[in-house]
Amino acid sequence: MKNRDEMHRRREASLLGGGPKAIQKQHEKGKLTARERVDLLVDPGSFTEIDAFVTHRCYDFGMENKRIPGDGVVTGHGLVDGRPMFLFAQDFTVFGGSLSGAYAKKICKVMDLALKAGVPVIGLNDSGGARIQEGVESLGGYADIFLRNTLASGVVPQISAVMGPCAGGAVYSPAITDFICMVADTSYMFVTGPSVVKTVTHEEVSFEDLGGASAHAGKSGVAHFTAADDAACLALLRRLLGYLPLNNREDPPLGPRDDDPNRTDEALDSIVPDDPEKPYDIKEVVTRVVDRDSFLEVHAGYAGNIVVGFARLNGRPIGVVANQPAYLAGVLDIDASLKAARFVRFCDCFNLPLVTFEDVPGFLPGTNQEWGGIIKHGAKLLYSYCEATVPKLTVITRKAYGGAYDVMSSKHIRGDFNFAWPTAEIAVMGAKGAAEIIFRREIKTAEDTERYTEEYKKKFANPFLAAELGYVDDVFEPRFTRPRLVSALEIMATKVDRNPPKKHGNIPL
Ligand code: HXC
Repeated sequence: MKNRDEMHRRREASLLGGGPKAIQKQHEKGKLTARERVDLLVDPGSFTEIDAFVTHRCYDFGMENKRIPGDGVVTGHGLVDGRPMFLFAQDFTVFGGSLSGAYAKKICKVMDLALKAGVPVIGLNDSGGARIQEGVESLGGYADIFLRNTLASGVVPQISAVMGPCAGGAVYSPAITDFICMVADTSYMFVTGPSVVKTVTHEEVSFEDLGGASAHAGKSGVAHFTAADDAACLALLRRLLGYLPLNNREDPPLGPRDDDPNRTDEALDSIVPDDPEKPYDIKEVVTRVVDRDSFLEVHAGYAGNIVVGFARLNGRPIGVVANQPAYLAGVLDIDASLKAARFVRFCDCFNLPLVTFEDVPGFLPGTNQEWGGIIKHGAKLLYSYCEATVPKLTVITRKAYGGAYDVMSSKHIRGDFNFAWPTAEIAVMGAKGAAEIIFRREIKTAEDTERYTEEYKKKFANPFLAAELGYVDDVFEPRFTRPRLVSALEIMATKVDRNPPKKHGNIPL
């Protein structure tokens, strides 16, 4: 057959990427090749490649003699648990995975197709950045991708794995996507690397300390997940996709219904300590309430005072937001506000009901927080909850104080079902502080403080005033939390709510 041999020759060259030596080097670094990664990401045999024959169009610096079909990025579509998605996998074995104009067009093509088809885009990043031999064509290619990332945002889920270098402006594609998973020890992300940092600020810092997985998972919050190696990272992406709809017009996929929706849990009744100053682990509450083994924590290493993640209730995927009394007493600060606001907005984009567990003493005081902009950052969380139109369920386990009461999915900002445990304390502030202000003139001794504190506590350190006003819909024993949330979620599954038409809101950035 005419041209058949040539077709096979080119296909094989594409499959080989940078060749055995470069592949060996990749393996020696503990990294898989782009094709090996694709194989682990998608269901066996489901990957369909496109643009395997694309080559760069650079004629400078001897590049005209170096053409590898595919040009350093593997693109196409496949299935994850039988559900479709488009992907690109940067191939470091070919020109260091660097991005040429042709390579950028390949990525743009899958993004355009994904948007038309309404399916997620997964990007596996491992690249030396702009193809230095191509100059501005490469920069333009990045901008073409950034634009598509932005247009696809909120329409189809976009997930990035960073599995090698990702530096300079190249970081902004993953940064615009919904989630970033970094691989420990082999990946890094930074806008400027250690040598530029040293020149400009005289700081000596390693690649790992500046932009490794732990730096971004723990300090900057850029990474939502870290994985021990490539295989673990790809397994995590598969798991994550299992909670997400294909696009913003669909509901999230129903998961297994193998945990009794009416399961009660007596251990919850004694989880909140009698002493309101004592911590407990809100993750234990979450994992006891949601479907067994369904909780996938997001941003686990960042802003531990708030916990966010995906879970299922009777098979229905949900987004969980929970104040964590075991870390900084669960206070809301800048990082916690940013973390939760972004998560709430993601869930609202993709029709994931929000379940909020509330135990929050308020916003963190201090100059750091005020000068750092807690006003505008806290407002982001408030704004996100206010604008969210997905079903919103709230359980107040203990403290719901001050502005934080309003923020955490309160009835007033369109909470659909707001429940409280008998241990709930819903008030403007803690009883002692409140008594010291309103009984300032009456208080003469420590006993007075105690007496007036008790008086305030009696009135406000409970859920009943809020329940009398209908601000909480019911107060029940903690053991019933799962069945109550399941039934609330079932009844609200058909919820329709809309915001006024607008180009877009002006969230306080
Ligand atoms: C062309 C590149 C390249 C690049 C690497 N290579 N980066 N080719 N353009 N950006 C080539 C190398 O020349 C080498 O080719 C092969 O890829 C493997 O690279 P090594 O250096 O051997 O790998 P390693 O030791 O692992 O080092 C990885 C690295 C280093 C740290 C990423 O390659 C590096 O510093 N590259 C340059 C990074 C950079 O400055 N990029 C531009 C950033 S600015 P051979 O033929 O020897 O195998 C940018 C702006 C984007 O990206 C702006 C968007 C808005």
